[in-house]
Amino acid sequence: MSFKVTVSNSDTSFSVETDESILAAAKRQNISLPYGCDNGVCGACIYRIIEGEVRYPDGQPFALLDEDIEAGKGLCCVGYPVSDMVIELEYPDEDFEPWV
Ligand code: FES
Repeated sequence: MSFKVTVSNSDTSFSVETDESILAAAKRQNISLPYGCDNGVCGACIYRIIEGEVRYPDGQPFALLDEDIEAGKGLCCVGYPVSDMVIELEYPDEDFEPWV
């Protein structure tokens, strides 16, 4: 089974298998998404959920604060969709400083 993830601000859609993260699926299909640590620590892959739901099999990631979750944000690298999703990437700006 797979889910469709649409990136609203880059006009991109791709499929994500139930056993892979959004970032892993994008890499597999040669779709470029912003990321850094690939481990839920740096926050470079953060996005806003417009539609759908995501799960974190290893628990709440370090870089995803409670306030981020309340604001409807998620991480691509450790997030596994549980439905079709529409997301909006928050591209790091020039002042972005990863936490690692
Ligand atoms: S790539 Fe670092 S938190 Fe996702």
